Amino acid sequence: MTRLLFASPLHEGRIDDPDLLDELAYSIRTLAEDDNAGRRWSSEKGYKGYTSYASLDDLPMRDPVFADLKKLLEKEARGFAKELAWDVRPKIDSLWVNLMKPGAVHSAHIHPHSILSGTFYVEIPDGAGAIRFEDPRLAMMMAAPIRNEHAPEHLRPFIDIAPEPGTLLLWESFLRHEVLPHRGKGERLSVSFNFA
Ligand code: NI
Repeated sequence: MTRLLFASPLHEGRIDDPDLLDELAYSIRTLAEDDNAGRRWSSEKGYKGYTSYASLDDLPMRDPVFADLKKLLEKEARGFAKELAWDVRPKIDSLWVNLMKPGAVHSAHIHPHSILSGTFYVEIPDGAGAIRFEDPRLAMMMAAPIRNEHAPEHLRPFIDIAPEPGTLLLWESFLRHEVLPHRGKGERLSVSFNFA
């Protein structure tokens, strides 16, 4: 027999609440117009669009829709923590919004100083970039043969997920991921967060 060791769990959930999605979309677009420090940071970094990542650290205090979302996310994370056999109660310690315009990408990264990270998707136009997860052991597989096209998901080095509005993804923060190029029209809106 063959045992599968060292899994990298990815939690895929949904929050099906059209009103919440509408309110979040409105708030994200308002921030993208009003947050000058965030606009400046985004353009200095060559980010095609807007993110509040570096400029605003108190969205749930500023806007009740983010406070509502935070509660829902923490509930989902409590369930995921149980699946991970963790006796902890994950708390959100940062939450930021992303508005990506056509052509926007976000290169591969991890989220340091966190236990869980995730993204909730608000508006995803056709052709907007998927999120790609990478096997964290990739750098250790110098001589490993390429997996063939029939490789089951748990053996593939990269997994792409094309989210829909209402999709919620949660993963352990060491998992490297990137957002593939936005090849559609319109704005790709999402909220990302870290748990401590
Ligand atoms: Ni990320």
